[in-house]
Amino acid sequence: MTQDELKKAVAEAALAYVPEGEIIGVGTGSTANFFIDGLGTMRNRIRGAVASSEASAKRLADLGIRLFDLNEVETMPVYVDGADEVDPGFHMIKGGGAALTREKIVSSVARRFVCIADASKKVDVLGRFPLPVEVIPLARAQVARALAALGGRPVWREGVVTDNGNVILDVHDFKIPDPVAVESEINQIVGVVTNGLFARRGADVVLLGTTTGVQVLQR
Ligand code: 5RP
Repeated sequence: MTQDELKKAVAEAALAYVPEGEIIGVGTGSTANFFIDGLGTMRNRIRGAVASSEASAKRLADLGIRLFDLNEVETMPVYVDGADEVDPGFHMIKGGGAALTREKIVSSVARRFVCIADASKKVDVLGRFPLPVEVIPLARAQVARALAALGGRPVWREGVVTDNGNVILDVHDFKIPDPVAVESEINQIVGVVTNGLFARRGADVVLLGTTTGVQVLQR
């Protein structure tokens, strides 16, 4: 099976976690896109969706799914999204698609985070994938120095501007054995909007696409 076939399989499996008549939180990226396409097939059975990026909002709207502003929504049963890495404690690195801040905000309102990922995303210790950090443009160099002082090698993702008008620093060569502590520490750096560690609030369910089928990992 190709990586895309594995992504499609987990995205389709995630449809079973979508309750009828509800508003669903929707992530960003290629795996989330397969989920959005699946959601399109049941658009008359859900109330609508809150998107975590302009790209996902457009894809949802093109499929005729009603979009809600997060400010209109007090709670949602589920948020479904991909990940760049997930560890055995259900902590994740996200933000490969630069949507980390909205992903973190939208997912924080959901009662359950369903992570959909192909098996290549499963790691023992987070940090093989460079950790994305969204930064206010004025603070880019200063935040890069602070991230280097923590032991990482920040690289500016040149040419990328987030939906919030900010820039991304990707922190390379940065093993993260204690993701909860590192998430908080990086968020304390002045000029950081969010970092891509989803550890304080990790996934509740991980649907992992393997060549032998979709594995369901539950907390
Ligand atoms: C976007 C994300 C994505 O969920 C993450 O990058 C995984 O992407 P893909 O499903 O394309 O592999 O965090 O900001």
